[in-house]
Amino acid sequence: MTEHIVVETKGAVQAIRMNRPDKKNALTRAMYAAMAAALAAGDANPETRAHVILGVPGAFSAGNDIADFMAVAMGGDGGTEVFDFLVALATCAKPIVSGVDGIAVGIGTTINLHCDLTFATPRTVFRTPFVDLGIVPEAGSSLIAPALLGTQRAFALLGLGEGFSADRAKSAGLIYDVVDEDDLEEQVFAAAGRIAAKPPEALRLARELMRGPREPIVERIREEGRLFRERLRSDEAKAALMAFVNRKK
Ligand code: COA
Repeated sequence: MTEHIVVETKGAVQAIRMNRPDKKNALTRAMYAAMAAALAAGDANPETRAHVILGVPGAFSAGNDIADFMAVAMGGDGGTEVFDFLVALATCAKPIVSGVDGIAVGIGTTINLHCDLTFATPRTVFRTPFVDLGIVPEAGSSLIAPALLGTQRAFALLGLGEGFSADRAKSAGLIYDVVDEDDLEEQVFAAAGRIAAKPPEALRLARELMRGPREPIVERIREEGRLFRERLRSDEAKAALMAFVNRKK
């Protein structure tokens, strides 16, 4: 579907790699669609026991492609790819391990709220500048982050747009562990392998109990999406998006 998403199967583990290094893995609609399809395919494959999500060295993702935001700001409908991906992520039937190195902006941070284990490197910074862009949090983060981090740290992340270093993210409970760049993928695949070796039905039930019902999360994703689209057309958002587009001029 797009060369910017590479899907590989290694035994019982399916790895999805965001691979658009020249744009720091900014995500396009085609990339969201490819990732949603890969999650669905992995869930449907009885041989697959775990998903892995990776970026490239130095960039997990710089967030949604700003050009796609601009298209909605100018009156385009934006499509359903982002929503479809977020629902696939939130309702994914099998555990997800993510490996984050470097840039993790916007959805590059919020993807990890849906992962079962996230490993990040010391140079990683998690940042969600939604409010600075005149928009609102997405991916169910307005519901999940306060529950996970506490309201004040969630406010610092989602309201103030503060960067969270890997160490701060670990102590806040946003990620599982901090590992060196050179060890990142080995650790991610080792963790996915440990997951794959568990009795799958027992793990599925344990995970479902821990994650709780998905409907409230999907409903929040829908509500955030409605506000997000509305906000993209606001003067605040248009000014912030134009500032990004013109920043190198
Ligand atoms: N959408 C579209 N293109 C993006 C992008 C995005 N979200 N993030 C980065 N890029 C592009 C840049 O425009 C640049 O393209 P160019 O070489 O054609 O000019 C390229 O990726 C490299 O980015 P650059 O800004 O030069 O790298 P950097 O290391 O100096 O900065 C970031 C990296 C992530 C800090 C910076 O690019 C940034 O702030 N991006 C926007 C992040 C954002 O607000 N995302 C939306 C969150 S909701």
